[in-house]
Formats: sequence, C-alpha cells, structure tokens
Amino acid sequence: MDYFNVHDGEMFAEEVALERIAAEVGTPVYVYSQATIERHARVFSEAVVGAGTGTPLVAFAVKANPNGAVLRVLARAGLGADVVSGGELVRAIHAGIPPEKIIFSGVGKSEAEMALALELGVGQINIESEPEAITLSKIARDCAKIARVAFRVNPDVDAGTHAKISTGKSENKFGIAYDKALGAYVMARDLPALEVQGVAVHIGSQLTDLAPLSLAFTKIGRLIHDLRAAGLSITSADLGGGLGVPYDPTMPVPPSPAEYGAMVRAATKGWQTQLIFEPGRLIVANAGVLLSRVVRVKLGASRPFVIVDAAMNDLIRPSMYDAYHDIRAVRPAGARIIAHIVGPVCESGDTFAMERDIDAVSEGDLVVFATAGAYAATMASTYNSRPLTAEVIVSGAHYAIVRPRLDVAALIAAEDVPDWL
Ligand code: LLP
Repeated sequence: MDYFNVHDGEMFAEEVALERIAAEVGTPVYVYSQATIERHARVFSEAVVGAGTGTPLVAFAVKANPNGAVLRVLARAGLGADVVSGGELVRAIHAGIPPEKIIFSGVGKSEAEMALALELGVGQINIESEPEAITLSKIARDCAKIARVAFRVNPDVDAGTHAKISTGKSENKFGIAYDKALGAYVMARDLPALEVQGVAVHIGSQLTDLAPLSLAFTKIGRLIHDLRAAGLSITSADLGGGLGVPYDPTMPVPPSPAEYGAMVRAATKGWQTQLIFEPGRLIVANAGVLLSRVVRVKLGASRPFVIVDAAMNDLIRPSMYDAYHDIRAVRPAGARIIAHIVGPVCESGDTFAMERDIDAVSEGDLVVFATAGAYAATMASTYNSRPLTAEVIVSGAHYAIVRPRLDVAALIAAEDVPDWL
C-alpha cells in the first residue's frame, strides 16, 4: 500500500503532482512518500508486537535507503538501525537513532569501525567468525569497553531468492557455519571484554515464501537450546530482514507482515529472548519511485525503444538482478504499447525492460519506475559522468529536495589533477 496514485488523469505523490517535481527539480529524480514510510514502519512494528520477551527492536536496514531524511522519519517512528559500515553508523546516529537501538552487522568490519561502534555505544555487534571475535575483544579491551555481541549463524537454508541476494547457504560468505556455532560461542565466552548475548540470522532478501525463514528460525531455536545447555546466557535473537515486496503486479503478492509476524510467533515460541528484526526493503521499497522523462522513442527491429533519461547508473537493479520495476506513465492516456525501455548509458545492459506492456508514451512524457525506494538511489553511481540523481521527499502537499543532484561540476570539483600534469 502506498501513496502514489493517479487522480484527475495524473500521478501524485501524496498531494504533490509528480509533474510539478519534474518541472521544478528536473529528472531523473527519486521521490519518496513520507506517509508511506511511516505506514510501513507502523504496520511492521504492529505485526511483531508481542513476539519474544519485552518489546521487539525493529532495526531498519540502513543499506536499503540511507538518505538522512528517510532515516529521520524512521527515527521519529521509534525504529532502530541495522548498519553494515562506519558510514551507515554515522548516518544513523546523525539522524537521531539512539545508539542502543543500533545493530552493527557486516562480514568485514575494520578495526577502526569496531572502535567507532564501541565508542558510540551501539546496542549489539553481530560478529561472523572466530577471528573477528578475537579482534573485537582486543579492540574493546584497548578502548576499555565491553562489546555486546551475537554471532551471525549461517543456517544452511536456501532462501529461494536471486543468487546475488541469497545469504544463508553454507557456500555464502556470511555467518558462522551452523555446525561450528557452539564451539565459536564457547570460545568467545572466554574472551575478555566481550559479552555474548545473542544469536543472529539473515538468509536473504526479497523472500516471497515464509517456509525457508521458518526453517532457519527453527534451527536457530535448537541452537539457542544447545547454547543454554552449554551454560551460555542468550537474551536476544536477531531474525534479520528479508521479507519481499510486490514488484510485478502480475505475480502473487508476497506474504504480509501479519503473516510473517504469525510465523515468527510460532517459530520462536518459548525462546525467552528479546527479538530483533532488520527489515529494509519492506519499509521503504514501495515508498519511492524514480521519476524520469522520455528522451526519445526510436524504432527497433521488433519493438520500439523507449529511451528515458534515467539509466542503469540511477537504478541498477534491473541490470544487476534482472529485477522487475513496474513502469507507469505519469499521465496515462489509456492506450498501451509493447516496448523495450532503456536508458542513455553506452551499454546494452542499460535496459530496464524488454518487450514490456506499458502505457503508451512519447517524447517528453514522464514515467515512473515504481517500488524504487529500496536499494535504488543508494546504489546509484555517476557512470558515464552522469549526475548523481537527486532525491525528494513528499509530505502531504509539501516536498523538499533531500539530496540535490550532484552535477559534473561537483564531480570535477571533488577530483584533483596532480601538479605534474
Ligand atoms: N540484515 C542483513 C544482515 C542484511 O544483509 C540485509 C540485506 C537486511 C537485513 C535487509 O534485508 P531486506 O529486509 O531489505 O530484504 N541490493 C539488493 C538487496 C541486498 C540485500 C542485502 N542485505 C537488491 O537490490 O535487491
């Protein structure tokens, strides 16, 4: 459910006409709806209420959308943050997320990042190997801090999603092998300056079936039991993120947050731990669109090419994961065409869709790429020396630019040419 709707023949973000944003800010531009973000944060939080002991911590996966305004909305909604770099950590703190609600995950944290996390007092550091536990213990001792940790456990479960976003199989780089976990916990318990408090798991992203999650959680439940039997005190369980969102309107709708919450309650019954969740996509994906203008329509061998002013550098998901983003005209006239939708970048991979049935559009028309609030602006680059896309947030009848377009002058200004040239 989102607040991008067509009324009186044209598409609005909440009460702001997308045509107005395109005219005033230019295109391509990401447009976020604050009310949609707030709604998703509320719906997810309500879906997991009462699961585990105490209040669950919903820690937004900052990687999905690290824009400062988006993080501020989520901080105000009471969410925590799941961060995977020093940069994301600084952003989360800057947005006003309390450090104790921050989980620091990531497979390759540097010593500097560990020290920063300890200095800032994050709630939990999710470690992924025994060598990482040893390094963190050393850093914590040097900073005279205690690091509260969980091991991220790799449950060897196939999440059934795209290979590039699947993380819970034994061959993936993430986490400590399920069979090795008990030994790692016993080792870490005896290290100085570590407080081993939890278990963490995340098997992949854009999951459209609850069964692999339920299987992974059941394995984690067994591990918690074994850890306690070995004398460890486990007080938190971080169940990661991963719940999918509808991208393609012709595909079945993924399980709802309520169905996910019911599955979690069943799978974690009797665990006696606080639960942590790290949703990213679910909170922000449908809260954003990429607004773009048709540059030209060109005849192709079989179908026309609709060339838009957004490209793979602005939204890389279609080229990288063969991802589907619904493409809609801002002023749909009723007629449809079948076309290839491509960007201006000099690569054939700069293709948003082939043979797609879309609203008929012509040169100068505006289109949106829907469900572009997650893993979209944040994965943008300046390839082909294209400006870094602007971002806008809408609230009711207002909008604000929350990241200006970084044009080529800004890119050149950030570089240096050595004095021998
Ligand atoms: N927690 C951990 C440890 C993660 O690695 C991730 C995502 C999340 C939480 C959030 O997962 P979500 O709820 O958003 O599914 N760029 C890719 C997605 C990469 C996801 C990486 N990890 C895409 O565009 O589909």
